[in-house]
Amino acid sequence: MQNVLVTGGAGFIGSNFVRYLLKVEPEVRIVNLDALTYAGSSENLKDLPDPGRHVFIHGNICDRNLVADLLRRYQIDTVVHFAAESHVDRSILGPGQFVQTNVVGTFTLLEVVRQFWLIERALPLASVRFHHVSTDEVFGSLEPHEPAWTERTPYAPNSPYAASKAASDHLVRAYGHTYGLPYLITNCSNNYGPYQFPEKLIPLTILNALEGRPLPVYGDGGQVRDWLYVEDHCEAIWMVLRQGTLGETYNMGGDNQPTNLTVVQMLCDILDQRLPDSAYMPHRSLIRFVEDRPGHDRRYAMDTTKIRRELGWRPRQSLESGLLKTVAWYLNHLEWVTAIRNQPGYQAWLEINYASREAQ
Ligand code: NAD
Ligand code: DAU
Repeated sequence: MQNVLVTGGAGFIGSNFVRYLLKVEPEVRIVNLDALTYAGSSENLKDLPDPGRHVFIHGNICDRNLVADLLRRYQIDTVVHFAAESHVDRSILGPGQFVQTNVVGTFTLLEVVRQFWLIERALPLASVRFHHVSTDEVFGSLEPHEPAWTERTPYAPNSPYAASKAASDHLVRAYGHTYGLPYLITNCSNNYGPYQFPEKLIPLTILNALEGRPLPVYGDGGQVRDWLYVEDHCEAIWMVLRQGTLGETYNMGGDNQPTNLTVVQMLCDILDQRLPDSAYMPHRSLIRFVEDRPGHDRRYAMDTTKIRRELGWRPRQSLESGLLKTVAWYLNHLEWVTAIRNQPGYQAWLEINYASREAQ
């Protein structure tokens, strides 16, 4: 049995990863450490496959004693680190929490594994792995003519969120270089799919459209993202963990670069097809251009040659098939939608982020 500590496993990607791993890998036990911030929910962990191999711990990655106790108690040999503050708009309004969780939290985890794995040598060194889940946003923003980012592209983060993720990547790398920590880092593009908190573009658009609310598009909607269906990301992480080269980074992405406006229009068209009797037909009529995000990155694009060539990974979903699955999931999980929407703070967030944005 492999004993895997998943941090942030009650959030969007973390909960999908827990589900994925329990489904495909009979030889793992998962300890899931999550602080249940506004972004994490036990609603995301209902109906897990084979739940006997999953233990949920409500706690903070910055709590060094707790993390040390978990490593010892469960003989953790693998850490998959998702826990983070993840929303760019929130990082612009309040960067302090991003430094605390993303930088200090990652540092705390690194110190605990250094003590347990590298100083005490509590487990065979060859059996331990620290997998750090990072983002393409560390690379900054691309001009239309520039080639996609490779693993060799220098970091140039633009938002407080991206800077905090870059800092945590650097810490992980430094622990590998200085102390010999066996680590892997994956930098992934925008994810979407089931259980994504409706502050992010795709779930926000679906949920607002269902209620006939405006669909806010920042600026001119011409920004470009590289969208990856979340289960493809989970598969890639597990592949890198098992077969990747220690001390290396791997880029992941969906090899599509639509504008934000195109994504919102695609969602509207899917909803038109799925809900022909909706009072809000055509859903495109709900689109509103609103004041832009400060410092908004214009274009992201990932060169995924390395992971394709070395590990044979490729996304299973196209943007079209992934969006169809995602809309279907939200329509079939309206009880999840209600529970998340009624969480304290969600309506307040919509007010804070959108009420003051002037229409463009
Ligand atoms: P999310 O915001 O949905 O979930 C984050 C989870 O971390 C939540 O469950 C939250 O409760 C937990 N958490 C936050 N602070 C914590 C703390 N101090 N201690 C313990 N748990 C804490 O985020 P996500 O979108 O699932 O992203 C997961 C990871 O993947 C992040 O590291 C993010 O930077 C990275 N990433 C995300 C995307 C994306 O498109 N969403 C793309 C690439 C990389
Ligand atoms: O690229 C990977 C990153 O993708 C992850 O590291 C982050 O954790 C994740 O939040 C995501 O960041 P983005 O800022 O790209 O995602 P978001 O869904 O917030 O926004 C996607 C694009 O849509 C972005 O250009 C901003 C725009 N947008 C977003 C919202 C919420 C809008 O136009 N309107 C909106 O209301």
